[in-house]
Amino acid sequence: MPRLLIITSTTRPGRIGTAVADWVLDLAREHGGFDVEVADLAEIALPFLDEPDHPSEGAYIHDHTRRWSAMVDAADAFLILAAEYNRGITAPLKNALDALYAEWAGKPVGYVSYGMSSAGLRAVEMITPVAVALGMTPLPDVVTLPLREVLDPDGRLNPGERRARGVHLLLEELLRYTEVLSQLSKRTNSSR
Ligand SMILES: Cc1cc2nc3c(=O)[nH]c(=O)nc-3n(C[C@H](O)[C@H](O)[C@H](O)COP(=O)(O)O)c2cc1C
Repeated sequence: MPRLLIITSTTRPGRIGTAVADWVLDLAREHGGFDVEVADLAEIALPFLDEPDHPSEGAYIHDHTRRWSAMVDAADAFLILAAEYNRGITAPLKNALDALYAEWAGKPVGYVSYGMSSAGLRAVEMITPVAVALGMTPLPDVVTLPLREVLDPDGRLNPGERRARGVHLLLEELLRYTEVLSQLSKRTNSSR
């Protein structure tokens, strides 16, 4: 079964990212098409890039980079939970993307975005060129969580059935992309 890595983008105490990750993880398990793991950037706690060589060398000297490399390398597809900070990508996510290189390539990436006025879409627009530079194939559709609509008055995340269905469709699409891209990489490798 292909492996899906769900990647959080925020690390601050009390963040909504944790509830978004729990919601998406439950839906991904229910979907059943992937072996699912969550990469919580708060737990992974990568320092700002502290490797002497360019990540394309894969010559990591720090255990934290090696552990992150192994986690990303083992995945066949990614689902980024994209929060928007100051109309853009969050610093922990950019750092986690920059830390590696070949581990991302040839794999699809989908997004569940969240935020206030644009529901995180401006962050997605900033993540996409970075993902493409790293060789990922982004899915065109995004599931968006506008925080004014998906938070109960007590602050609990409640995205509802329609958005849950959106995540299901996103996972279906991600599975199709994973199959096609893995065939492509097999063909590319055998023609070398
Ligand atoms: C530093 C910071 C900057 C933010 N900037 C934006 C923004 O530009 N646009 C937006 O829609 N929401 C913005 N927000 C609100 C976040 O979308 C909201 O706080 C969300 O919960 C952040 O994700 P988190 O709880 O996982 O950290 C910002 C929040 C923080 C903490």
